[in-house]
Amino acid sequence: MKEFNEADLTNAVIERISKAENARERFLLTSLVKHAHSFIRETKPSETEWFSAINFLLDSAKISDNARNEFILFSDILGVSMLVDSINNRKVNGGTESSVLGPFYQENAPDLENESSFIQTDDNGEKVYISGKVLDTSGNPISGATLDIWQTASNGLYHMQDNDQDQHNLCGKLTTDVNGNYSFTTIKPVSYAIPTDGPVGSFLNIYGSHPFRPAHIHFIISADGYQSVTTELYSSDDEYLESDAVYGVKNSLIIEYTKDSKNSESWILNYDFSLELS
Ligand code: BEZ
Ligand code: FE
Repeated sequence: MKEFNEADLTNAVIERISKAENARERFLLTSLVKHAHSFIRETKPSETEWFSAINFLLDSAKISDNARNEFILFSDILGVSMLVDSINNRKVNGGTESSVLGPFYQENAPDLENESSFIQTDDNGEKVYISGKVLDTSGNPISGATLDIWQTASNGLYHMQDNDQDQHNLCGKLTTDVNGNYSFTTIKPVSYAIPTDGPVGSFLNIYGSHPFRPAHIHFIISADGYQSVTTELYSSDDEYLESDAVYGVKNSLIIEYTKDSKNSESWILNYDFSLELS
């Protein structure tokens, strides 16, 4: 009988995978096995350590549901999400840069009119009026572009994390008018901690990293004939810009809110997005 030993086990697994018909699947699985086996050979985990890694995944599955995805969170804090993002979204023609999607995106945000308010549950947050255009990379307006927008309330929680908020509070979909304009009122975003009550929290504790993200608003912008962009706008006055727990900040996405000259309690932001041709 052919038995497998430490020296030839990796090749034996790769040999089985070589039967996969799909070339891309074959390539991905082969590479996965090579890297996983190298990791084990290099780190030589004890069986206790290996089971604690497996239990990390089990605990991640147990704590995940429609409103909470610990696996996305893990990918985010390892910088893997932003690495995948960077490789897939190299902007060569000056289009708006991308950032991390995060685990709190829900597809079913309501369609709202321009000029409407996203505030369904007033939490005394500072109001901000945001407007601008969606443009192509030559500066021409794109009419009929969709902006899918979401953010946390002033307590740092997304509506699906917080029973005290109305469903779809602070999220909605807008469509640009014939001149490419969009506009809405929301609250000035705040920095917030990603969830730390699960395995990812314990992981961050190992190396003493804080769990905060700088204040931001999420956008997915799409239009027929153009590449969609998933991005975030980060507040320039935030203390966590340089230490974002998920490595999402890019200089081109840092924006400055200005005080509304007609109402000193409110803020204004004008920001144009730019989409590259698909
Ligand atoms: C977010 O910005 O919604 C987010 C991103 C990564 C991890 C947790 C939250
Ligand atoms: Fe967020």
